[in-house]
Amino acid sequence: MDTGLENVVAAETVLSDVDGQNGRLVIRGWPVEMLAASMAFEDGAHLLWQGMFDTLPDVRALGARIGAARADVFAHVAEIPDGLDVISFLRVGWAMLPDDESLDAAIRLSAAGAVFTAAAIRRARGEAPIAPDPDLSHAADFLRMLTGRVPDQAEARALDAYLVTVCDHGLNASTFAARVVASTRAGLVSAAVAGLSALKGPLHGGAPGPVLDMIDDIGAPENAEAWIDGALGRGERLMGFGHRVYRVRDPRADALKAAVARLPGTSGRIRFAEHIERAVLGRLAKKYPQRKLETNVEFYTALLLEALGLARDAFTPVFACGRVLGWTAHAREQIGEGRLVRPRSVYRGPVPVPA
Ligand code: CMC
Repeated sequence: MDTGLENVVAAETVLSDVDGQNGRLVIRGWPVEMLAASMAFEDGAHLLWQGMFDTLPDVRALGARIGAARADVFAHVAEIPDGLDVISFLRVGWAMLPDDESLDAAIRLSAAGAVFTAAAIRRARGEAPIAPDPDLSHAADFLRMLTGRVPDQAEARALDAYLVTVCDHGLNASTFAARVVASTRAGLVSAAVAGLSALKGPLHGGAPGPVLDMIDDIGAPENAEAWIDGALGRGERLMGFGHRVYRVRDPRADALKAAVARLPGTSGRIRFAEHIERAVLGRLAKKYPQRKLETNVEFYTALLLEALGLARDAFTPVFACGRVLGWTAHAREQIGEGRLVRPRSVYRGPVPVPA
């Protein structure tokens, strides 16, 4: 038995390959660094959904359908109750969408990610939601729906880089959850809601907010070592470090660091983060000499999303806006397997007393 299932192979996939020994991530034949440097959200959707649906339009037409779907799902925003945090708002909003296994369902989920996340953030700030502009790119419209202004190209490119960098990552916890639900034939919406529910945990996609808390708490380079020693001494995990699969640096960390660096005005923040990163890695190496704990995707995610003006409680929902492409693609791949996922457990409870 393997409680964390780390040595269990539970699916065959053509979607992505995580090489934990060599720190490589390949998504449908593309190294993640190339994806991050050149692809937009719409390209990522096209890449992951190819072959997963009977028909898939070309990238331009797919982008137009995602844009139109943003406009369609906006009507649901008014139906989502007040008082929800950003992730719950997204979960409730997604759950309102028609649940089936079609390309339209995948498109609606992807479109709604940006619409509901932006609306949730604005509502939390006491601001009215902004209606989508279907003619903008998905990333540009996402930022416009947040701020009310069309972003410059560098900002939209940075968000695209983030969304495609996190669009898929092997059989991580949320993708596995999505595949299990899809195997029951519950529909893509149910699979995505399950994925989101798994993603929100701090050991998976909930880490970038706490990463920023750590950076802010440390405050100045000279405080780093003492702060880290204090946290490790209390048995805390340092967010943005360590990974179940990677034994070397997570390749997404540098892809995202490069994306932050392309944004003007970020060099000071990057230098400070690098200082903290070096200090953490030094301390972790000392504490766990046998176990290589390296920087993961969440560390530079925090810096990138902060630079784009996102509040930290929106980080995980924005992660979900990228990962929904992978969840829907995996869900379709699992449906294609035609087999319900149903592992077994070993019973350790009391046995009935003989009569
Ligand atoms: N800070 C301090 N100690 C750590 C950390 C960390 N970030 N990561 C692992 N350890 C310790 C861990 O407590 C364990 O110590 P002990 O044996 O004394 O209990 C030892 O290192 C070995 O842990 P492991 O087997 O490598 O841990 P795992 O595979 O169960 O956990 C992890 C992987 C990502 C949950 C963990 O590294 C962690 O909690 N990191 C912080 C949270 C984080 O950054 N999460 C985002 C993950 S990347 C996004 C994604 O792809 O999902």
